[in-house]
Amino acid sequence: MPNPGRPFPLRSSSPDALHVLLLTTGSVASVKAPLIVQELLNYENTLVQVVSTKPSMHFFDAGKLEADNLAVGVKVWKDEDEWATWDRMGDPVLHIELRRWADVVLLAPCSANTLAKLAAGLCDNLLTSLLRALTPETPKHLFPAMNTYMYLHPHTSSHLLAAQELGWEVGEPASKALACGDVGMGAMMDWRDICLLVAERYGRRRRYIACNNEMPLAPMRMSR
Ligand SMILES: Cc1cc2nc3c(=O)[nH]c(=O)nc-3n(C[C@H](O)[C@H](O)[C@H](O)COP(=O)(O)O)c2cc1C
Repeated sequence: MPNPGRPFPLRSSSPDALHVLLLTTGSVASVKAPLIVQELLNYENTLVQVVSTKPSMHFFDAGKLEADNLAVGVKVWKDEDEWATWDRMGDPVLHIELRRWADVVLLAPCSANTLAKLAAGLCDNLLTSLLRALTPETPKHLFPAMNTYMYLHPHTSSHLLAAQELGWEVGEPASKALACGDVGMGAMMDWRDICLLVAERYGRRRRYIACNNEMPLAPMRMSR
């Protein structure tokens, strides 16, 4: 199990803990970030940290997400934190520490912009620096979320192919009425299916059964 670096508020007490790093970008599907975090924390022995781009944080309240999960040390890492935690040679470098901490990386939602940067190897913020620093061995899942015409643009298929060649497993988007009013392909895979994927793939059990209809139910579709 990787050793969390100094910037982290919480060290895993169990050697079996699964460290899930949720990366969110400037898609409207970032509104689901708090739900994804909450559900992942319902799994036994699962710790979560979040890294978000500036546009992503328009879609959820990072302060509330941290406050709601204070006891388990969830933090939403932002671009500013990269430099706030580094002062001189020998200090930990945040995007490297986060990469060391992560057992599994979920890029959910993945915007067209971040997908293009990932495919091209650009790294001009905390999130993309982290993407660039990932080792080939770290399991990586990417969930595109964008307008239908952005999704159908030829760039998207070539960028997704490049991501797959870099070892990313791509979660197929859904077809539905999108937040922008268009109807069609491009919505992020249902957040419950994303959590189910983590549970099934990495052997996590839910600590307790929810008594509402928020339980993951829908089948998931994944492609490599
Ligand atoms: C209200 C709103 C919703 C957006 N939704 C999406 C989206 O679902 N998918 C997407 O790829 N871009 C979307 N964008 C555009 C991105 O936010 C923009 O391309 C941004 O540069 C992405 O930056 P990031 O990849 O660094 O997060 C949206 C923009 C706005 C203003």
